[in-house]
Amino acid sequence: MIPAASKKTLCFIKIAALGLICSVLAFCLYFEPPSPVCPYSSTLADEGGYEGLDPREKPIVLLWFWPLGVKFDFKVCSTYFNVDSCVLTDDRSLYSKAQGVIFFHKGIDWNLRNMPQAPRPAFQKWIWFNVESPTNTVKKPGLDNLFNLTLSYRRDADITVRNELTIRDKEMNEDFVLPKKDKLLCWIVSNNNPATGTAARERYYHKLSKHIEIHVFGAAFGGLRLRFEDYYSTIASCKFYLSFENSIHRDYITEKVNGPLVAGTVPVVLGPPRENYEQFLPSDAFIHINDFPDEKSLAEFLLSLDKEDEAYMRYFEWRKFYTATPHLLSTSNEFIHPICLACNHMSRDRDFHVVHDLYKWYFS
Ligand SMILES: *[C@@H]1O[C@H](CO)[C@@H](O)[C@H](O)[C@H]1NC(C)=O
Repeated sequence: MIPAASKKTLCFIKIAALGLICSVLAFCLYFEPPSPVCPYSSTLADEGGYEGLDPREKPIVLLWFWPLGVKFDFKVCSTYFNVDSCVLTDDRSLYSKAQGVIFFHKGIDWNLRNMPQAPRPAFQKWIWFNVESPTNTVKKPGLDNLFNLTLSYRRDADITVRNELTIRDKEMNEDFVLPKKDKLLCWIVSNNNPATGTAARERYYHKLSKHIEIHVFGAAFGGLRLRFEDYYSTIASCKFYLSFENSIHRDYITEKVNGPLVAGTVPVVLGPPRENYEQFLPSDAFIHINDFPDEKSLAEFLLSLDKEDEAYMRYFEWRKFYTATPHLLSTSNEFIHPICLACNHMSRDRDFHVVHDLYKWYFS
């Protein structure tokens, strides 16, 4: 069972982040760009567009394309994420009334021909939705000064979508019981298309596998394909799990890390530098490949932890303070959560925004 995402978040980090965002925003409001810290400018004028909108009514948020054509029931937003503050629809005839329109980046035509042709109502915000890393994002032309909000895993997006740890509810005080382990190191991997940036992690995997046994699941290297039901239990049965991102970019730390944290397994991460991980996770919740000079020393370290229970169990200390929330496992899992967050955001955001230089922000 997947519990509804808890609303409680890493409060103190949020407050700090909020402070920072506020000061950047204030800066951006008063000193209009060009400035590298202001990917979007806001003008206080031109707020007239909201006249005639009833703030008591739920805003309509239109999903222009189904991401990769995969449909889901919008009700999931209220059942899983407790989001019910907008009217989500895929009915394009509601375009002129929609306060938000979500555009999945991959769905956009190279020549923008499949974008709305009717004029955009003054109150309407266009939301750029992309959860792929820059390596896997195609630079289609014509997207500057077109969108009002960004929806991505990046912390500095307008709407940030991530699997975040939440502060542990002290009331629900069950002690952590380590799941039964019968494997040392595992990896579930379905994508090994080098065009998606996977070469670095593959190189590392091949070298590492010379020094330690790795149980590989998933299609990429002819491993056993797992059913969704077996995902968490399989990860739980391993002491360590390779949380190797397909490409390496700031903030690009995905459900590949969340899985083992939920399951009670130690993630061994390959991705952005450790400092970046530590902005989202406690430093002792994971092992970073950069902590070691090479594959052999990482393998030796994992093998030594296999013999030292006390040292191994220290990787679970963080659970006294935080809880990891399971992510959805359906094919559309990476799309549902962002769309629900966009819905939630639209019900609160009355401000004017323009995303001026989309790619400069996303690719730099
Ligand atoms: C949204 O962005 C467009 C394109 O830059 C702009 O013309 C429009 O005024 C913006 N609308 C809002 C509500 O922010």
